[in-house]
Amino acid sequence: MTSDYLVIGSGIAGLTFSVKIAEKFPERKVVIVTKASEDESNTKYAQGGVAIVLNKEEDSFKKHIKDTLIAGDGLCKEDVVKMVVKEGPDRLEELLLWGANFDVNDAGKFDLGKEGGHSEYRIVHHKDITGYEIERALLKRAHQLPNISIMPHHFAIDLVTNHHVKDANAEELTCYGAYILNQKTGDIFTIKSGVTLLASGGIGRVYGHTTNPAIATGDGIAMAYRAKARIKDMEFVQFHPTALYDAKGESSFLISEAVRGFGAYLRNQNGHRFMPDYDDRAELASRDIVSQCIDNELKKSGDQHVYLDCTHLDVEAFKKHFPNIFNKCKSRHINIETDWIPVVPASHYLCGGVKVNKKGKTSIKNLFACGECSRTGLHGANRLASNSLLEALVYAHNIFKYHAKRDVVMLNVDIPKWNDEGTTISKEHVLIQHNQKELQALMRDYVGIVRSNQRLKRAIKRIELIYSEVEDLYKQHKITTSLCELRNMINVAHLIIEQSLERTENKGGYFNIDNAKKIKSV
Ligand code: FAD
Ligand code: SIN
Repeated sequence: MTSDYLVIGSGIAGLTFSVKIAEKFPERKVVIVTKASEDESNTKYAQGGVAIVLNKEEDSFKKHIKDTLIAGDGLCKEDVVKMVVKEGPDRLEELLLWGANFDVNDAGKFDLGKEGGHSEYRIVHHKDITGYEIERALLKRAHQLPNISIMPHHFAIDLVTNHHVKDANAEELTCYGAYILNQKTGDIFTIKSGVTLLASGGIGRVYGHTTNPAIATGDGIAMAYRAKARIKDMEFVQFHPTALYDAKGESSFLISEAVRGFGAYLRNQNGHRFMPDYDDRAELASRDIVSQCIDNELKKSGDQHVYLDCTHLDVEAFKKHFPNIFNKCKSRHINIETDWIPVVPASHYLCGGVKVNKKGKTSIKNLFACGECSRTGLHGANRLASNSLLEALVYAHNIFKYHAKRDVVMLNVDIPKWNDEGTTISKEHVLIQHNQKELQALMRDYVGIVRSNQRLKRAIKRIELIYSEVEDLYKQHKITTSLCELRNMINVAHLIIEQSLERTENKGGYFNIDNAKKIKSV
């Protein structure tokens, strides 16, 4: 199969690029492969919204830039921050044009929310299901464009590069498309493409306790790494302070930061509101700080969770703003009017990823990356809340602009078929499940919010053992999605640990007790 543009992933990044390029070139073919149903993605679960400067009376680009730089703790690329923030209003216009709806107030203006690290109200949202609404609108628009084919339940296994192909003309490492697994039939085929875009999202599932859905296994980053692309800033895994606590440790439901923006307090088991002890911004400090403070409270007390107290808030207004959260709490017999919500930090977002320039180009020719799988330099050591959807929109636009001026060159090479000779169908699914659980527990316990060199070194030793077991399975058996995902998660975990060990200074979301101390009371 061939395409002009092969897009791996159907979240906000993949869909936005696809819609734009397909609108511009109706004669060019865009193929989107996506490994679950077409809407399944981190995007679909985004709650708080998109950070965009709209209220120019109180807010300004300068303030949003400053907030982003402060959250990033000195490691953001300032030119990227300025570019992304200033593009926000135009990118919002496009979303509106494609039919996305955002809440407005009685005066007919956007109802702007506030989240941790923001000095002003600037979060555009659709109740507490902003991502669901954006995903809906983008998919609707994508289906209206006949030159876009969406292939759900198709899993990208690996990128095709010079490693697979003899290309006498290639002077540099080049991408020619990808090997794809049809998850329903088990067939593996090649999509040869002029341009390949990785839009495969995050890595949350590498950790046992995460806000991310099951698709977030870091496949794109692992594929790019195996293809020898540059990967950067992997040590900066962001832990969201307030995932709903679940005694079994399985809940991935998020209590949006916007709830703290709405006035909720964090309390420990004694009822003490602890955040003012740590930071003048209290509950609205940036999320790296809030997560580290909660972790400290839990380590001091030995408790499993802290609480989010909404009992002093206007319940009717809460229901209007956060109906999804209200109903979820209700389903767990938590009445937010009288009960505190048990919450705990959980892995949420990866600030690093496949290194790209402002045009979304990776270090491999014809390979681009966009959204959570990419590392643009916007987030530095810690992403400011609601800057991720914005980043995906802006970079999808930048990649589109780059291609809008170019022909697609389909390289004249023969790509060998996927070779699974000598492999058998595995009956040992239990090995995959067991190794996955072990990996997730290891990452949670040794590579979490607070790290140490000893724990990191132990983690890498254990991961090497899991790696060799899984490589044996991979070589001997027919490919399955769960086997590939596990292999990818191991690659990603290894990158996180390796790059953590290289970091000698604590910054943003990275905290190692063997480096200089940072948080006041920790
Ligand atoms: P995704 O939306 O995750 O899409 C990735 C796509 O790639 C999926 O379709 C997936 O199935 C597909 N895929 C992955 N691997 C493969 C493969 N091997 N083969 C084929 N397909 C593959 N950010 C904000 O800015 N504001 C918020 O309010 C906000 N709230 C959030 C709430 C939650 C609960 C979570 C989890 C995240 C939140 N974020 C928020 C972060 C933000 O949602 C994500 O960073 C963003 O949506 C990522 O978009 P994406 O397109 O890069 O990836
Ligand atoms: C949230 O709603 O708390 C998530 C916002 C984000 O991840 O940016």
